[in-house]
Amino acid sequence: MLQEKITQYTAEINAFSTTKADELEQFRIKFLGTKGIIKDIFDEFKAVSPEEKRTLGKVLNEFKQLAEAKYQSLKEEGGQAQGGKDAGMDLTLPGEGFEVGARHPLALVRREIVEIFNKLGFIVAEGPEIEDDWHNFSALNFPEEHPARDMQDTFFIKKGGEKGDIALRTHTSSVQVRMMEHGKPPFRALMPGRVYRNEAISARAHCFFHQIEGLYVDEKVSFADLKQTLFYFVQELYGEGTKVRFRPSYFPFTEPSAEMDISCTICKGDGCQLCKYSGWVEILGCGMVDPNVLENCGIDSKKYSGFAFGMGIERIANLKYEIKDLRLFSENDTRFLSQFKSALI
Ligand code: DAH
Repeated sequence: MLQEKITQYTAEINAFSTTKADELEQFRIKFLGTKGIIKDIFDEFKAVSPEEKRTLGKVLNEFKQLAEAKYQSLKEEGGQAQGGKDAGMDLTLPGEGFEVGARHPLALVRREIVEIFNKLGFIVAEGPEIEDDWHNFSALNFPEEHPARDMQDTFFIKKGGEKGDIALRTHTSSVQVRMMEHGKPPFRALMPGRVYRNEAISARAHCFFHQIEGLYVDEKVSFADLKQTLFYFVQELYGEGTKVRFRPSYFPFTEPSAEMDISCTICKGDGCQLCKYSGWVEILGCGMVDPNVLENCGIDSKKYSGFAFGMGIERIANLKYEIKDLRLFSENDTRFLSQFKSALI
């Protein structure tokens, strides 16, 4: 009786070959479980005659070893096929998602602008956000009584000092001065950074924002170089066919000075709310570096000339992404920030 059962189950075990976790578990329960076949057979064995015990004992032990070995080898085989310790895991289930961060829109725009000018050989330079009067105003040819020096505009930190009052820089033009003071022409640089102005915070104004300054100084640099450089920049940033126009303007540190408009990125010049139905939007200020500025920085203005420009990064980002409220850039609201996830990393 017992011998027959063992023969039958041995055949069953030998024929069993699946490595599927759930079927293997059923096999274990059926043969090796606490209420399994091997337990039953050992119970029955207790009742057989002593002669039978002698022969059957060995058979029974071999049978038990066979079942255990089969189970172990199939389990290992299955585990390896599914990647070791993860045996039994359902690999068809979807993975657990995790949040990926997004680049800030201002960082995206800054990088895009820097990459365009990199192609023209401009390097990137930076300067301090806490500046003295000399670098922020005087060296840049601001007259003593210029309203930009006023308490209304500037956040002063300390009155007096070796190089004048200490303040938070109001523009990145200060980095031009630092660059020219500390180096020798030619200069070809882009200077991005944060600037501060004492303004009431609203959708259209903020007490801090970001600018990118550009400077090109060499022998025989002309206004034609300025126009061509900025024209190239606009074609790269907004696409070929974008028109530019220069309007005369005034900045203390450039002569002549201009403001540059581009044909409206939304309506392409037909007139819309963004361009206030003019077809044009202003994007930057520029001009030929005033000889006084070159001399203030120890550069021979008879030998060298140059152009400079400055633009607000928020302004460029607003045009690109149609963001209507400046405050969104600094509020860290992830509902706003996560919209830039798909933008280039
Ligand atoms: N610094 C100016 C501003 O903050 C921007 C600017 C205008 C920079 C003309 C320049 C420039 O370099 O040539 O409004």
